[in-house]
Amino acid sequence: MIIAGVMSGTSADGINVALVRLPQNARGQECPRYTLLAHEEYPFPAPVRGAILAMMNAELAHVADLARLNFLLGELYAEAVAKTARKHGVKLDLVGCHGQTLYHQGVAERFLGRKLAVTWQTGEGAVIAARLGVPVVSDFRPADIAAGGKGAPLVPFLDYLLYRDRVYRDRGRDRRAGRIARNRIAQNIGGIANLTAIPAGASLGQVLAFDTGPGNMVMDAVMEELFGRRYDRDGKVAASGRVLDGVIAWLLRARFFRLKPPRTAGREEFGREYVGRFIQICHGASKPDVVATATALTARSIADAVARFVLPRFGVRRRDHEMIVSGGGAKNPTLMAMLRDEIAALGIELHFSDEFGIPAEAKEAVAFALLAHETWHRRPSNVPSATGAQRAAILGKISYA
Ligand SMILES: Nc1ncnc2c1ncn2[C@@H]1O[C@H](COP(=O)(O)OP(=O)(O)O)[C@@H](O)[C@H]1O
Ligand SMILES: [Mg+2]
Repeated sequence: MIIAGVMSGTSADGINVALVRLPQNARGQECPRYTLLAHEEYPFPAPVRGAILAMMNAELAHVADLARLNFLLGELYAEAVAKTARKHGVKLDLVGCHGQTLYHQGVAERFLGRKLAVTWQTGEGAVIAARLGVPVVSDFRPADIAAGGKGAPLVPFLDYLLYRDRVYRDRGRDRRAGRIARNRIAQNIGGIANLTAIPAGASLGQVLAFDTGPGNMVMDAVMEELFGRRYDRDGKVAASGRVLDGVIAWLLRARFFRLKPPRTAGREEFGREYVGRFIQICHGASKPDVVATATALTARSIADAVARFVLPRFGVRRRDHEMIVSGGGAKNPTLMAMLRDEIAALGIELHFSDEFGIPAEAKEAVAFALLAHETWHRRPSNVPSATGAQRAAILGKISYA
């Protein structure tokens, strides 16, 4: 069966479509091997991006516009999938579409006398199904929240399949390669940065996953504010600045970075307000220094989270740890150089998801193709140890064509 996975993340930069093939009748307990056939990226037109960002700011959004955006995104997702399928001459069987998160609050808060955790992804599945003539699985997160989880992260399901190093469990020691199995960290750097830690030989239930903090979100907003540019292409501006270490040390003292996993973040934590304060704190520094500091904040908060929460799980004796990076942040060489230095100090090697056959920008789209596959076969695909859910849950809603 051929499935299109569709992702548009908190960066609101555009739509990623991955075409994935899975063997027919794959009904085993574990998701089977898949083949990535193609991946394409479609930037949002500037007015659409502007509208998405404006509506993420819940206080300013009109209900009518939210309803319109839901149907508009349905059309745009369908067009992106249709284009990709046509270009690669593929006939689809199913679509898995994450949608655009407008609001995510994974921790329960009081509302009208009840404590509720809530999440909201938009992009109408019924529209996608109608346009493409195939069933669509969408709205993956609510089922995990209903099961007591934070609704995020969901990608650990794919991370585990991709990166668990089975050598340890299966054979103890790989004599040919002369190595023992590795502990691995899948680090995605989208708008927000999140990791999945997979101890060598771990079962799915031993996987740890959480948001480390800002990914590209703060860097992007600083670039927009100070240079009127969407992002720091190839990390050039950051490379020309100096990191304000005092600012980083101060910022890392914030409550979020001390929260124990599972924890999730979004524009609610690292959006406009946060960036406004960030720029204020950097007052007096040159513009490139501010960008360099925003870049270092991402690298250091990742390393900090790994040292605090992940290494204790990996055990101190084994030092063959790997971090495998994906997401748009992997395209920023300045960020990658900073991250490489930070984690080298922790005994961790830096790698890229491309080395495992998944282009950095395609990984989350691939994940939603696989999650849709599980849902189609009525299998759960949340990872309770990652989301904090009380039980496994079948994710998503199906729109039939
Ligand atoms: N060539 C590049 N140089 C620097 N940063 C890049 C480059 N390409 C992509 N990015 C960064 O990646 C971001 C998009 O990452 P993505 O993984 O799509 O995030 P999300 O999942 O939140 O949509 C961009 O906003 C930008 O900050
Ligand atoms: Mg994106």
